[in-house]
Amino acid sequence: MNKTVEVLPDQSALVARSLELILSKLETAIGQRGRFTIALSGGSTPKPLYEAIAAEKLPWDKIYVFWGDERYVPPDHPDSNELMARRAWLDRVDIPAANIHAIPTLEGDPAASATKYEQHLQEFFNSSPGEFPALDVALQGMGDDGHTASLFPHTEALKVSDRLITVGNKDGNPRITFTYPFINSARSVIFVVAGANKRPALAQVFAPVADDSTYPSRLIQPQGELWWLLDAEAGLEL
Ligand code: 6PG
Repeated sequence: MNKTVEVLPDQSALVARSLELILSKLETAIGQRGRFTIALSGGSTPKPLYEAIAAEKLPWDKIYVFWGDERYVPPDHPDSNELMARRAWLDRVDIPAANIHAIPTLEGDPAASATKYEQHLQEFFNSSPGEFPALDVALQGMGDDGHTASLFPHTEALKVSDRLITVGNKDGNPRITFTYPFINSARSVIFVVAGANKRPALAQVFAPVADDSTYPSRLIQPQGELWWLLDAEAGLEL
């Protein structure tokens, strides 16, 4: 694993640096493989980054978008990560609809939706059960409890290591989420984290010794590159 931690002076510097890094991974991927695959994070932090990506002139037909997790709500629901990314980025650019691989949430059964997305990913990457295909970029956020994607502290989702997708649980509400071995298979995992409220969890995530199931972001140890891009508010004590 190749780990890099960068603390940027403020929010706009964080967005600018995140954009720069993603564009460099995009260029490399398209140069080497003719396409770029990225899994998006949800929550509030990545929204200005998605708006910045939308303002770029990019080969949208070669860009394939997935989500690392989703709230179990319809795609037009205000809590939907898909909706946020569509409004901030995807609806503003000429990306083919077939390149957007949203997490299904309308099956009325989270386990069925998780299986459906897993099979969809296996088809896209032409991979078999038990194999972990490599996305070019897995974009991650971190909650102030140390969770990432929908891998919440002390939940069953943390124990899943033989699948790409599983059901997450946030205070009893179902989520659909990448498993940590699938995230760890990405060529580059990029955490974008902002705000003073994230400091206590960050201290535990970066501590030499701490409990992984209490701070699930500790489980993110990719074979490839690991990037932590933090604003000064978040990274002050590191
Ligand atoms: C989600 C996310 C989640 C998010 C963190 C941080 O669906 O909520 O994917 O993992 O990245 O909760 O969220 P904020 O950026 O809003 O602090």
